Amino acid sequence: MAAAAVTADGRARVLVDGNAIPLLGLGVWQVGEGRECEDAVRWALEAGYRHIDTAQAYGNERSVGRAVRDSGVPREEVFITTKFYPRRKDAEAEARRSLERLGVEHVDLYIIHWPRGGPTRAWDGMQRARERGYARSIGVSNFSVGELDELLAVADTPPVVNQVQFSPFEYRRALLQGCEQRGVAIEAYSPLGRGRHLGDDRVREIADRLGRTPAQVLVRWCLERDLVVLPKSTHRERIEQNAQVFHFTLSDDDMAALDALDTTGGTDRARERKWW
Ligand code: A2P
Repeated sequence: MAAAAVTADGRARVLVDGNAIPLLGLGVWQVGEGRECEDAVRWALEAGYRHIDTAQAYGNERSVGRAVRDSGVPREEVFITTKFYPRRKDAEAEARRSLERLGVEHVDLYIIHWPRGGPTRAWDGMQRARERGYARSIGVSNFSVGELDELLAVADTPPVVNQVQFSPFEYRRALLQGCEQRGVAIEAYSPLGRGRHLGDDRVREIADRLGRTPAQVLVRWCLERDLVVLPKSTHRERIEQNAQVFHFTLSDDDMAALDALDTTGGTDRARERKWW
């Protein structure tokens, strides 16, 4: 398996289409539109994040756009992802609406939120969104290896990322390997198990021994695997803490201990059940 193309500073990965994506991003799922979301994005940018991951379905694109604009960080330095809400008909039309809400000319990455209606259903619109310049890169989310293969069989422009729930407890080894073999980068959402994994004794033991927090260990585990990782928080000190992950490493033994927490059997599936 070819090693992922991580940039010299270790902070970004070069996607198959040539675009670079910062490895650490702030996820804003379930972060309320308005003050809560604007604060979280502003704090993240102040803490050095240069990647914000939102979605049409999150209902907070306006706040993300406003916070980026108000931050003073140049737009071209911030990687913005949004996602096509697959209950809607056409991804190109929805991309245009997302851009209006975000108040930007393009997003850096536009992905299908989940494969509703089948893995190929929305791709034509995704490709048109890219051709029109609405999105620099296009990808998918919650796709298994089988679903990716169905899409790759018909795509003119292949997806360059697959955003899935990923952590030591959901170490989807066959999915990761299958994605890497197909030139698709994995983005890890809910890397803290939505907070559930932070209390695990084995994670805590490693964190205590290294003088880090459980969240830092879980985020670092993703970086050690060259994954793009999207921890979510609405608290300033946690947002800052989750970004302090580039100045320590995990030993092979600690990585092996974390790998062993997997509860998916190393699956090539992206999710344990359908929610649509
Ligand atoms: P909050 O947003 O109130 O800070 P995930 O990224 O896996 O979805 O996990 C997000 C959950 O973990 C949220 O409930 C978030 O709470 C919590 N969380 C995020 N970062 C930390 C941290 N450093 N310490 C403790 N809890 C955290």
